[in-house]
Amino acid sequence: MANYQWYPGHMTKAKRMMQEDIKLIDLVIELVDARVPFSSRNPDIDELGKNKSRIILLNKSDLADTRKNKLWMEYFIDKGFHVIEVNAKTGAGIKSIYGVVQEACKEKIERDRKRGILNRPVRAMVVGIPNVGKSTFINSFAKKACTKTGNKPGVTKGKQWIRCNKELELLDTPGILWPKFEDQRVGLNLAMIGSINDEILHLDELAYELVRFLCDEYPGLLEQRYNIEISENQDAYETIKAVCVSKKCLLKGEELDIMKASSMVVDDFRNGRLGKITLEAPK
Ligand code: G4P
Repeated sequence: MANYQWYPGHMTKAKRMMQEDIKLIDLVIELVDARVPFSSRNPDIDELGKNKSRIILLNKSDLADTRKNKLWMEYFIDKGFHVIEVNAKTGAGIKSIYGVVQEACKEKIERDRKRGILNRPVRAMVVGIPNVGKSTFINSFAKKACTKTGNKPGVTKGKQWIRCNKELELLDTPGILWPKFEDQRVGLNLAMIGSINDEILHLDELAYELVRFLCDEYPGLLEQRYNIEISENQDAYETIKAVCVSKKCLLKGEELDIMKASSMVVDDFRNGRLGKITLEAPK
């Protein structure tokens, strides 16, 4: 899994590219991570993509809490967006995009029709923060009967468009948004899902935070997975120690290997082995 380090230079360049690319398209397909839809979303896209239609894809929905996925769908629909739950890795949910594109772009399609322009495909661009699944989505979507169209007259030279069907073309390079660390929780959530450098937060601290969260929101889950007992108000450090004992995470001389157990818990969460978990609820 990739880790990302962000520098002001990257951000400026990414933003400039996005501003250029956005001029070429009708529709923004914005990916968010269903486990952290708020933290994995940069609201600057609302400004950058104003006057464009928008579809939000709740990606990695396979790793997120099914009930919370529904709540997030309602939240985004309430905000006026079109939303689809997807799994870019398996392609689940992706087929329904075509119908939603027609719905999201119906004004543009109608405008074209009135001007006598028929069959002009909707042009779309995928955007999202690093690691949210943009490349996986484009590959998965493109595989389903899409062909690359290459350069086209009237389109900036070098841009590759993927022709999905006669109604939709996709820019083959995604737009990268940078995470917006408005509050500490955002950084923590992005570290939890492995989208930012683990060094920003120590793995053991990350594991304690995760343990606290899981005990509050998903009681019984850690007990079951690691075959441990957790008493009421038990300190997260004690819980990790219990994982060490149960999973035999030991250093020489039977000393508990806190880092190994911490890493195991965080990894199990990231890979969905702890179950379908969403870290934040809509506000
Ligand atoms: P990016 O372009 O936005 O940076 O993200 P990218 O597609 O590289 O995806 C980042 C990671 O997320 C990849 O895993 C990818 O397989 C995984 N991923 C993308 N969409 C989904 C999804 O809907 N569900 C699940 N479970 N995973 C998804 P990786 O660890 O980097 O590689 P690998 O494990 O696939 O080899």
